[in-house]
Amino acid sequence: MCGIVGYIGSREATDVLIDGLRRLEYRGYDSAGAAVSYNNEIQIVRAEGKLKELESKITKNPLNGTLGIGHTRWATHGRPSETNAHPHRAGDIVLVHNGIIENHQKLRAYLSKKGHTFKSETDSEIAAQLIQQRMFDGLSMEKAFCKVLSEIEGSYALVVLNQKEPDRLYVARNGSPLVVGLGKNENFVASDIAALIAYTKNVIFLEDKDFGIVTRDGVKIFDGKGKQVKRPVKEVTWSRTTAEKGGYKHFMLKEIFEQPQVIADTLLGRVIQGKQGEKNQQKIILENMDALFGPKNKPIPFDKIFILACGTSYHSGLVGKYFIEEMSRLSIQVDLASEFRYRNPVIDKKTLVIGISQSGETADTLAAMTDAKKKGAKLLSICNVLESSIPRLSHATLYTRAGPEIGVASTKAFTTQLTVLLLLALYLGRRTKKMPTQDFEEALKELVRLPDRLEKMLKTFGNISQIADRHKNRSSYLYLARGANYPIALEGALKLKEISYIHAEGYAAGEMKHGPIALIDEGMPVVVVIPQDRVYEKVLSNIEEVRARGACVIALGNTGDKILQTKAQEVILVPKAPWYLTPILMSIPLQLLAYHIADKKGTDVDQPRNLAKSVTVE
Ligand code: AGP
Repeated sequence: MCGIVGYIGSREATDVLIDGLRRLEYRGYDSAGAAVSYNNEIQIVRAEGKLKELESKITKNPLNGTLGIGHTRWATHGRPSETNAHPHRAGDIVLVHNGIIENHQKLRAYLSKKGHTFKSETDSEIAAQLIQQRMFDGLSMEKAFCKVLSEIEGSYALVVLNQKEPDRLYVARNGSPLVVGLGKNENFVASDIAALIAYTKNVIFLEDKDFGIVTRDGVKIFDGKGKQVKRPVKEVTWSRTTAEKGGYKHFMLKEIFEQPQVIADTLLGRVIQGKQGEKNQQKIILENMDALFGPKNKPIPFDKIFILACGTSYHSGLVGKYFIEEMSRLSIQVDLASEFRYRNPVIDKKTLVIGISQSGETADTLAAMTDAKKKGAKLLSICNVLESSIPRLSHATLYTRAGPEIGVASTKAFTTQLTVLLLLALYLGRRTKKMPTQDFEEALKELVRLPDRLEKMLKTFGNISQIADRHKNRSSYLYLARGANYPIALEGALKLKEISYIHAEGYAAGEMKHGPIALIDEGMPVVVVIPQDRVYEKVLSNIEEVRARGACVIALGNTGDKILQTKAQEVILVPKAPWYLTPILMSIPLQLLAYHIADKKGTDVDQPRNLAKSVTVE
């Protein structure tokens, strides 16, 4: 959702702000703005719509100066408009804000009584007016800022300029991420490291309740009690090029093609094969898992395991259930985080909650995990963003190594989540001794071969673009599968809806006759995931049922499946693989199908309407 960039140094601030905001565009927004300080005066330019609108306004009304803040806003309080766009100003105070000020009505009433008038409908403007009020009350800027932080309730990442202090940025975070990037005689602030990686690899992640002062020469950070603290400087491993399109038409397409590499990265150092014949040399090494699951010779200390997530991450959790239950015989319950947080689940000290989130900032997942932690559960997160809120809350984290995912529709983050879940299932399979050694060793070999296999497979999908062309104008799609591929059908349908705006439903193939079959009419595309596995025959019968009602079957099957060629109008083939790899293999052609349909329809593939990459509100 909203994005923040701040800069102080010797470059033209506007260039850094626009470049940084562009790198945050993927988060989703509906207006943008920037403020730059020059000669003790702060000028603000804001625009409704995309960054290019802001840029064209800046071209007409240049913002010069080497200190500035920028923002992309995803409307929560107040419609998307220029007046509601950030930065907001109250006298000398100019600020940008991410998050929600929950007591904004009370504060607005208080400030109105004091004579303040408001230009916008936002909760954020209130923070600017309140700082100004506290300075009217006689406090210094620093004290006024601290006082306001204690008065506002809710979540915030705030970056504030004071027109009278053109040598510093005031920053604070609580619940919404904020990162300081360290340069030489220049420093940066952003809501997301993607905005900074073009400039620096050294970053400081602020903790909740921290506030700080960023100057050209350094950063001073204070904790919630006002005590000066040293936060560690971390090195970011994401490279600048991973956040650029690199010749691809869209980020999403680039990210689809990055999957062999990022899956290889995710496996790196975690699968140990040892030499042939050497006993006990084949293993999975997962960071912090021994601490979480306790000594190897003791039973696992959990009697309930929940997986919580939203959207695509929820789909990977559903696949994870198949992996973990089959390999370790541990029982798993998968919940939508937004539902879990409002029911009264049975949780105690013997509960493990596995939270899955690409961004690590999804409000529902964060809240559900926070509640579970309060009730005594241990938390394990699977996440793509270093030091984001969900890993920080968790007792242990397994990072996916997908690199920055810019396309709003998740692709490589999803398949790396599946990879981590498979590693976790194999690890647990060994811990519970439910997975036979031979199967385990075979699985490790298969995993090591996977990136190469994906690389080759990606070269064979030339026909998907033609299939997309033939079916792009249909108004409704059904996606069917069974077993561990059933969540892949859900995910395939979600991808199509998100980026092409075509209605699509994913269903367990066996459930079709209990309702959705009524939808089928002449020519309706039904995408069926049908690898040659233990439910192959069953899915084949489902194909017959939909064909008999006039559906046009687009089947995703295995290379060499001659029967399928006679049953489906369109066939996409992937190499035959063990059951636990098919969800990863099958995901990729489904991503490509959605991509090509959307591209041919001309929708905004990387930033679909109404969607945000990191959903930091409920
Ligand atoms: C993915 O294509 C979606 N944009 C969305 O469903 C996403 O997976 C969901 O919002 C959860 O995000 P997270 O993984 O960052 O928690």
